[in-house]
This record gives sequence, structure tokens and C-alpha cells, in this order.
Amino acid sequence: MSKVAILGFGVVGSGVAEVLQRNGAHIGEKLHGSVELKYILDVRDFPQSPFADRIIHDFAIIERDPEVDIVVETIGGARAAKEFTQRALAAGKSVVTSNKELVAKHGFELMELAQKNGVSYLYEASVGGGIPIIRPLKQCLAANEITEVCGILNGTTNYILTRMIRAGLSFDAALKEAQENGYAEADPTADIEGHDACRKICILASLAFGRHIDPEQVPTEGITNVSLADVAYADSCGRKLKLLGRAIRGEDGRIRAFVAPHLVEGENPLAGVEDVFNAITVRGNAIGDVMFYGRGAGKLPTASAVVADVMDAARNKDRPKYLDWGPGGESVTAPPDDVVSPWYVRAEASADALRGALGEITPLARAGAPENETAVLTASMPLGELKSRLAGVKAHSVFRVLED
Ligand code: HSE
Repeated sequence: MSKVAILGFGVVGSGVAEVLQRNGAHIGEKLHGSVELKYILDVRDFPQSPFADRIIHDFAIIERDPEVDIVVETIGGARAAKEFTQRALAAGKSVVTSNKELVAKHGFELMELAQKNGVSYLYEASVGGGIPIIRPLKQCLAANEITEVCGILNGTTNYILTRMIRAGLSFDAALKEAQENGYAEADPTADIEGHDACRKICILASLAFGRHIDPEQVPTEGITNVSLADVAYADSCGRKLKLLGRAIRGEDGRIRAFVAPHLVEGENPLAGVEDVFNAITVRGNAIGDVMFYGRGAGKLPTASAVVADVMDAARNKDRPKYLDWGPGGESVTAPPDDVVSPWYVRAEASADALRGALGEITPLARAGAPENETAVLTASMPLGELKSRLAGVKAHSVFRVLED
């Protein structure tokens, strides 16, 4: 039998309590032993909640209770969550988390601490919500040398882009809908500026390439610069605008990781990933391309992944799982400037001026475009070359075009 404490009774934490209760009998049968929710730590009280009797406000009660062997951390952020995680691991309790910020920033040291104390630190829910991706990447694809991981990693931004593309909604109206549906982070800046996707690509890249990749090493651009004009131009050439997180291993062995809006060819499976859904493609030298798809955000899909980790920790008390990676450092990554691709450029310039600056171009058209606006696709070139060619051009949007 395992006793569980949940830290943070927000969207995910309350989902975990609900799944543990609703599926308790089924979980018990699978484990040949029960999993009981003993405490919920939060600064707030929840008098109307069916779990009100389990709410506590002092972490030390959990830390000192030898009955609690699994702690679920759904606080988020990297402050209190880090301290409580360290204290729980040091007290010999396994920790299960959905906290991508903490895993992306401090995963390496927390995994080391878990190993030192003979317990598990599991984080399947930190990337892709309910999509199984952490274990498949670490275990099922272990025989491959992975060359690229690429994905739609943020449900909120994918929802916003989908609503802009399909319903012509403004960015603000689409964001409001995403927040009402409980997809967005407490502060949606982390979603729309790409930080959430950055944390997730860091976790995937660290696992895939075996070395810690810190969010500070990953150039990140969100979708705040994507306009309905860009959506229309992308549509005119059979492409969809998607926010992608990518991590590519160069021939020098260093990782080029970045988050940025991309134009994705309509036939690419990533173009068909809509609403809050996420998808991750992994390219391995034995398997080729493999894609993982599912609900990337939301209370119950994320809770589903958390509870599966709780079951894993309960099942493997004596043989903890280590889904770990090695230390990071500056030499692990390289700037993505040498990653070559065609580019989409929308500028305040004539087509001739853009041709002069960019060389071979394919001009695009949209209804209602102002006279001085030109949008084009370029030939393939690295970011460095594009930047120097664009010197002196008043460009409003510059996005990569995803190649096969
Ligand atoms: N805000 C995140 C998203 C939640 O929209 O994908 C899941 O990590």
C-alpha cells in the first residue's frame, strides 16, 4: 500500500485527486495494493471540496510522516516546488511532478538527489500532458541514435493559432477562450512567449541526447508576433502556422535547440494537429520518424500521466526508475544560426526590393493586403545569412518554413 500527498490543489492537483478517487479500485487491482490520498498541501482552504478533510498547510507534516511514500508536486514554478521536492526526496519519498519549469531547470540535480536516496523522480506529465513521451523516448527508442526532436508542445498557443486560422478570431479573443477552458498557465505569458514550449523541448532534448539542456541555452520566440495577415499568407501557399520546439543534433555532436513559429506544409502531419492537441516527432537512425499525438493540456489528461507515474513509483518502491540524463554545460549546445531552412518574410517593401535583398523568392498574395506589403518565401539559407540579407528591410514577420 502507498500513501500519497499532493502539493498544490490547482487544476492538475485537483485532477490527480479526482483520478485517484474515481479509478481507485482499478488502480488497486492493477497494483495488487491500494494507493491512498492522505494529504493535500495548499495555502488555501477548500471547504466545499470532497477532499476538504485532507487539506493541510504545513509541508513538515508530510515530510515527517513515514507513511507517505509518494509526493505529487503540482505547485508549479521553481521556488517552493524545488524546496519541497528536495526535502521530500531527502526524506526518502518518491516525487512525481507535472512541473516542466522545475524539471527543465533543475532536473539533473533532482534526479541525482533521487538516486542518492534510492527513490524515484518521475515527470511524464511535464511534457505533452497525457501523451506518453518521456518513457518511450528514454526506453522504447533507446536503441536509436536520435538526430531530431520536433513538436507542437504548447496546447494554449496551438489552440490560439487554430482559432485564428479556422475562425479568423483575433489573438486576444482566442487567448481568452483558451484561458476559459483552463489550458493556459496562471500567467499566459509563459505560453504565448514560448517559455512553456522552451521548457518542454529542453526536457525532451535532455532525454534524447543525454545531457542537461538549460532553457537559457534555447533561443525562444512565441506567437505574439503572428498576425491574421501571416495566417492568410501561409494559407495561400498551403501551409499552417505552428509554434514548434525543435532540438537538432549537428554533425559536431552539439545540439541546436530553439522555439519559434514555423510555416508547416499542409501534408506534414504536424499541420493537422489542432486545438489543444500536441504532437512530437522523433527522428531516430533505426526507426526513422515516429510521432506521438494527444491532448497536451487540461486537467484530466495531465492527471492521467501523473497518476500513471504514481502507480509506477508504488510498483517499483524497491527498484526505483531513473529516467535521467547527464550534466549540461556550454559545450552541449550551439546557436541554431547554422540550421538551414527556407524562410517566410512579410515586409513593408516592394517585391523587387525583396528580390534584390533575398535573391530567389516566391511572392505570396492575400485579399486586402496594403499596397506597400509584400510577403515571400525564400530559398534555403541559414539564419545568419538571412539576417544580413534583411539588413535595411522593414520586415514585420520572419518565420522558418519547416522542411521534411
Ligand atoms: N499551458 C500549458 C499548455 C499546459 O497550454 O500546453 C500544459 O503544459
